[in-house]
Amino acid sequence: MPAPAMSVAPLPDRVEIFLSEGQLRDRVRELGRQIARDHAGLPLTLVGVLKGSFVFLADLCRAVDLPLEVDFVGATSYEGTTTTGEVRITRDLQRPVEGRHVVLVEDILDTGLTMRRLLDVLSAHRPASLKVCALLEKPSRARVRIPLDYRGFVIGDEFVVGYGLDHEERHRNLPYVGVLRGVR
Ligand code: IMP
Repeated sequence: MPAPAMSVAPLPDRVEIFLSEGQLRDRVRELGRQIARDHAGLPLTLVGVLKGSFVFLADLCRAVDLPLEVDFVGATSYEGTTTTGEVRITRDLQRPVEGRHVVLVEDILDTGLTMRRLLDVLSAHRPASLKVCALLEKPSRARVRIPLDYRGFVIGDEFVVGYGLDHEERHRNLPYVGVLRGVR
């Protein structure tokens, strides 16, 4: 009997673990404690940036032991692994934050262009204060300077996925942060 024809499967993306679930858990707890310490007794809103921050924000908000509100803004500038440099706002806040203390929660600070644009959008809502939290920062790629109030980890110029971060919408559900080899 002839051997069945072999179908050629696409090569799986090569993801190497970069930050483990345990490392992420410990750091997110510390960030949550810092945010709680800085906002005790204040009306607090955590604003996640869709889509990449959704996993981080889900863990972070449970690490902040204070009453708080959660809202989301949407922004996009990436096609594949390259930034177009043009930031498009896809969703604005749904709840007023005037007089409230806002922490903008982002997955990764890369060129900083998205954050710069979002800080302008959020400032127009007249919060009492506006702070910035990013799980990851890639300082070597910064095109505008965004001082972070809360930073998870500083990383090099690698394209990372998992824990909410994607490559063409894949890998967001990995429980760790991994480096995608062969894309940069
Ligand atoms: P920025 O405007 O260049 O700072 O880009 C911020 C956005 O680009 C992030 O919120 C991510 O959605 C995306 N991004 C930047 N670097 C990476 C990466 O290494 N992996 C996945 N997404 C990334």
